Amino acid sequence: ALLLPVQRAARTQLTIKDRLPESRLPVPFRVPLSIPPLARPLRRDNKRKIDFYSMTMKAARVQILPDGPKTYIFGYDGITPGPTIREKRGRRCVVRQINRLPKTHPYLGYECTTSVHLHGSDSLPQYDGWAEDVIRPGQYKDYRYPDDQDARPLWYHDHAIHHTAQNAYMGCAALYTTHDELEASLPVPKGYGRYEIPLVIQDKIFAQNGNFIYDDDGENSLYGDVILVNGRPWPTMKVERRKYRLRFLNASVSRGFHLALDSGEPFTVVGHDGGFAPEPTEVTSFRLGMAERYGVIVDFARHKIGDQIVLRNLGLPNNQDFANTDVIMRFDVVSNATSTAGNSVPDRLNPSTGRHNPMRLRESDAARTRKWVFERKNGLWTINGRTWDSQRSDADVPHDDVEIWELENRSGGWFHPIHLHLVDFKILDRNGGPPFAYERGPKDVAYVGEGETVRVIARFGPTRGKYMMHCHNLVHEDHDMMTHFDVGATGRDPAEIAPARPLP
Ligand code: C2O
Ligand code: CU
Repeated sequence: ALLLPVQRAARTQLTIKDRLPESRLPVPFRVPLSIPPLARPLRRDNKRKIDFYSMTMKAARVQILPDGPKTYIFGYDGITPGPTIREKRGRRCVVRQINRLPKTHPYLGYECTTSVHLHGSDSLPQYDGWAEDVIRPGQYKDYRYPDDQDARPLWYHDHAIHHTAQNAYMGCAALYTTHDELEASLPVPKGYGRYEIPLVIQDKIFAQNGNFIYDDDGENSLYGDVILVNGRPWPTMKVERRKYRLRFLNASVSRGFHLALDSGEPFTVVGHDGGFAPEPTEVTSFRLGMAERYGVIVDFARHKIGDQIVLRNLGLPNNQDFANTDVIMRFDVVSNATSTAGNSVPDRLNPSTGRHNPMRLRESDAARTRKWVFERKNGLWTINGRTWDSQRSDADVPHDDVEIWELENRSGGWFHPIHLHLVDFKILDRNGGPPFAYERGPKDVAYVGEGETVRVIARFGPTRGKYMMHCHNLVHEDHDMMTHFDVGATGRDPAEIAPARPLP
């Protein structure tokens, strides 16, 4: 029985010329969910504990529309989402990123430079995907990652100056999960693609020829009318009668989601951007802003074989809703459990004792508070009234200091998911009140809703150097709601430390 009303409010029609008409859009729940393949390292150096990968960013034609023409994409190794990198904490990792994209985008016309950001990692600034530290077509760069943080759902995606939205929308986005002893010791669902299920949600606009239409409505936002999960339109997933850990990532350019199950049953939130929460929390719905990650456990043992449970999008203010953007995917219960391993949710998850885990920080630990205002001004997306300037750091944070950052959204009709590179933070409060129940874990993106003020606390380290902060609505980020801060006042330009090199 459907406990949640299927409300199809405020539906509009996309009016873009050449777009695939509503009557030809894929029908929900006709294709099976797929799981992004795991990346294979070229080599594992077990003495030095370093794993080497090589990846090629390239264009490809792939079948996304089940009965339609193929779609021209950009992808890491030519697939989207790209290959999932899975690494153990304590091993380091080198990823060679080769840019074999066309020199200019065949229908958007920009130069296809890229920069690869491992979102949520404390990488050194020269390997962090600094927006101006670009790899041109015909160049490569070796990114070195420490993998020294608590296990977490990282993701790597494009971050090139002024073209992040296009490159990511074309497909340059993928998962990178890290794993540690804490995770291994917890009896939660595990096994990539078996009981631990990555769910990368994106919206797209398709043209009649099958290609993606990039239309950001004059640098406002991009709202697609097709929902993809792991690159498939509105898929279904067969599940057993047991618990699953669903690991959500919103990799959309501008669309936020408000997720719920149509059975009305709860999600048990266990994980956040920065890893496991101190304790699990039950909620019946949660907002998933762009770049946010939540790990939730759903118990399909509540259902009988044959039941179908739809993952719904209840919608958010100031997103455009289209015909089927109120549904995401469907779970079909097909059998009893074939394994009882990792089938519980312990009361305590993460002792949060790491020096850079923010969950034990208190307001009194902070050396100072900084205030940041996010606002649309004179047609530009601004932070404290200014736009991106690679030469101007807007904060010099002493190394390893604890600070409170107050993030204020003063542009009424927009929400801004604000991302800080380098650090994990704890949300202290939202408009002076407590954070949402599902937000009580380590985060690197704060959903700052219309007219909201969110205060976060973090310890700025372990590395030194310049890092970016920006809105993760990629259209806002590109035009130019982005700034940077310098930890330890290094003054060094990350683009100059280890620049990309020409291919031999
Ligand atoms: Cu996921 Cu600076 O971005
Ligand atoms: Cu924004």
